[in-house]
Amino acid sequence: MESSDDTEEPPLPLALSSFQVSEEFGFLLPDPLTELPAPYGPWMDLAHELPQLITSHQLRSRVHQMPQLSTQHLQGREELHLAHLVLSFITMGYVWQEGEEGTVQVLPRNLAVPYWEVSQALGLPPILSHADFVLANWRRKDPNGPLEIENLDTIITLPGGESLRGFILVTLLVEKAAVPGIKAIVQALGAILQRDEESLHRALQELAGAIGAMSEALRRMHDYVDPEVFYSVIRIFLSGWKDNPAMPHGLIYEGVSPEPLAFSGGSAAQSTVLHAFDELLGICHRQDTAAFLHRMRDYMPRPHRAFVQELRGAVSLRQHVLSSGDARLRAAFNRCVGALTDFRSLHIAIVTKYIAIAAARARARRAQPSARAGPSAGKPPAALEGKGTGGSHIFSFLKSIRDTTREGMISA
Ligand code: HEM
Repeated sequence: MESSDDTEEPPLPLALSSFQVSEEFGFLLPDPLTELPAPYGPWMDLAHELPQLITSHQLRSRVHQMPQLSTQHLQGREELHLAHLVLSFITMGYVWQEGEEGTVQVLPRNLAVPYWEVSQALGLPPILSHADFVLANWRRKDPNGPLEIENLDTIITLPGGESLRGFILVTLLVEKAAVPGIKAIVQALGAILQRDEESLHRALQELAGAIGAMSEALRRMHDYVDPEVFYSVIRIFLSGWKDNPAMPHGLIYEGVSPEPLAFSGGSAAQSTVLHAFDELLGICHRQDTAAFLHRMRDYMPRPHRAFVQELRGAVSLRQHVLSSGDARLRAAFNRCVGALTDFRSLHIAIVTKYIAIAAARARARRAQPSARAGPSAGKPPAALEGKGTGGSHIFSFLKSIRDTTREGMISA
């Protein structure tokens, strides 16, 4: 909540609401819309049938029959986000329907033009991003019920059944667990300006606790997502057309640009949470990894990108803790860095299970002569074996990020 008029505290340096960050939901879109206005029925109809249309190889022909709709009836950011979500899922299904060996070079104009317009309005790229896949893709089964996985569902889905649902919703729970940490950022920066060490200490405790809770949430991936389904069915639909050997030339958005455009696929590397924590804690990643992470900021909603930018320019927490010489503050700061390092180590273990081990199993299966084509048949994308859907070389990248996080500790 905003501070009320009768307090005498000086204004805090950041107001979350001016960056479209919610006190309750953090970077998640608060209670997203689930239906678009009536003129957009053709989009919604396709979007609701995506898994069946993809597995029966009918989506591309259904897209070709779709009318080209004007985007002028879309109003407000909720409608725009839902439109982006819907068009993103249709596009990923369209491109990857036949697996990595049957991609397309052109996204047809009736899809590409409105998709481009909606993307421009939101400052998002015209590809599925974390902002669509997770932040705008949730609803409560019981509208008055809690934000627990049992009471949650996705709005739009793709092949992958319960594992896809689990993958999206567990990631949502990680975003939700981060919320007290996001609020702690504002408290910490305010406390530095007010020279209030007690309140700074409290904020750092909050932040360390929130990062710990994010790890707890991340662990739930094991309960809800089957590695084989993730690797062989789900992953290809998150893949982009930048640095991807399966689509080396990118994609032509017909009616938008005669030249092909290249965009990275969806990845939680686009989640604003860890970018914000890294900036607050002054974590310095190595140049090549930092370049990739910074590029991922272009895939965040515009106001969230601005929030990270604002943190980059804010007063240095690290310098403050160093120059204070306060051992209690230093310990609290290091608890945050330690929790972030642990989160990243846990994430590496998850990626090992869901990509490296799953890839080895898939390779063994591929060696069998009966392997069939198409993602719905469970043939995994070989082009992405050592790479993330965002296009990074996974393990050296993730370990470097984890190690430079640990190096952010302040020694006594
Ligand atoms: C099965 C689950 C997951 C898998 C297989 C996975 C895989 C990956 C991969 C391959 C990357 C490298 C970047 C890329 O090219 O995409 C990555 C990066 C990243 N992922 Fe995940 N991820 C999973 C779940 C999550 C969840 C739930 C979160 C939390 C929001 C998360 C947060 C991140 C972050 C922040 C990065 C950037 C590197 C960093 O800052 O440490 N991931 N992930």
